[in-house]
Amino acid sequence: ETFDATSLHILPGAIDVHVHFRDPGYTHKEDFESGTAAAAFGGVTTVFDMPNTIPTVADGETLKAKHAIASSKAHVDYGLYAVLGEDTIDKVPELIEAGIIGFKCYMGNTFGRIPTPSTGAMLEAFEMVAPTGKRISLHAETNSVMERRQKRLTESGRNDPLAHLASRPAVVAVEAVARAAILAEWTGARIHILHISSGAELGPLRDAKARGVDITGETCPHYLMLGEDDYARCRGIIRVNPPVRESVNNEPLWAGLLDGTIDMIATDHAPHTPEEKTRADIWSVDCGFPGVETQMPLMLTQVAAGRYDIRDYVRWSAVNPAKVWGLYPKKGAILPGADADLAFVDLNHAWTLRDADLQSRSKISPWDGRGVVGLPRHTMVRGRFVMKDRALVADTKGHGRSVHAIQQMPEAKPLHTDETMAAVIAHRPEAAA
Ligand code: DOR
Ligand code: ZN
Ligand code: ZN
Repeated sequence: ETFDATSLHILPGAIDVHVHFRDPGYTHKEDFESGTAAAAFGGVTTVFDMPNTIPTVADGETLKAKHAIASSKAHVDYGLYAVLGEDTIDKVPELIEAGIIGFKCYMGNTFGRIPTPSTGAMLEAFEMVAPTGKRISLHAETNSVMERRQKRLTESGRNDPLAHLASRPAVVAVEAVARAAILAEWTGARIHILHISSGAELGPLRDAKARGVDITGETCPHYLMLGEDDYARCRGIIRVNPPVRESVNNEPLWAGLLDGTIDMIATDHAPHTPEEKTRADIWSVDCGFPGVETQMPLMLTQVAAGRYDIRDYVRWSAVNPAKVWGLYPKKGAILPGADADLAFVDLNHAWTLRDADLQSRSKISPWDGRGVVGLPRHTMVRGRFVMKDRALVADTKGHGRSVHAIQQMPEAKPLHTDETMAAVIAHRPEAAA
């Protein structure tokens, strides 16, 4: 059989470091099969799955069970996150042993209502994780700030989609980013700021990078391309944590990507059913929407429009995620795709995103009807086509592998080595043990 790639560009497959595939526990929303099929259609060859499944991934046994599910169903490669919570530092070794790509720390409440750790618990947890080299990804929103706001808004009877934005203003995220960066600076933990939604978060992120903190950040297409005007059109569908913000944030976020303050594009693919997204009470709408299969077309549209170069896109979609999580298929390799994880893309193909066409079980998103330029035509994972001519390839269910096996993270070192830090180190949990 011959294969003709005439007029296609061959890119490294995208690495989406932030998806929720809901398996196990919420498989009516998504599972590892439908989620990774969606990834394949989006030119995404590796995903990192979040731990807010049932039971929460916070111990070795739960993680092993999730690995069994993922390895039997996945069309593309994956990494699994584990939760770092209030009283979970004793679980860190067994979680690493069972094979994680990194830790997820929820500083603020969102879907799944995972208890958020105090600053003291975060300090201990960061100290525990730092010597392992694993990166801690943060949902950086602070509960105590936003819950007071939401209480006042609901008490005053607000039940419109924009009230969701009002309940979680940017300061909620800015405070959390700055606090997480300080804890990382003092412990030597490497951290990653998930779903950067405002221009204001770039200040503490940039400052921390300048101080030498090993801190990285991602933003998502909805924070770059949507704004307050989309709330009336989308109603509860647009509800996501952190919220889509005022459109004055769009340009600073694009600038942050272009100047390297923001390292990568992820999607926070967060599927829910139409019923769960369209409830009359705005406060009971489940937050988030699918994104893993629309990221590449949305971002390539901006390449076609001349906002940036295809090489910029590849840096944000594949090169930086691979570097930041140490995914080197071979020792000494510097580029992802060396193991033939590839997206074959028609950069000139104009088409319209339709929710009904999504592979995700969640066929409801803010992107329905949006015109895009750029189509992933085929997707290859480790040398094997999993999506060809916009169809799933037979017998690729279970082809996906966990990439924790190829992860190489260098040892991390605390920046502070003065007497104050020596006292902190002396009282680390493992020193006391
Ligand atoms: O809107 C969101 N949905 N934000 C999150 O952080 C979690 C996600 C989910 O799991 O639904
Ligand atoms: Zn989050
Ligand atoms: Zn998320």
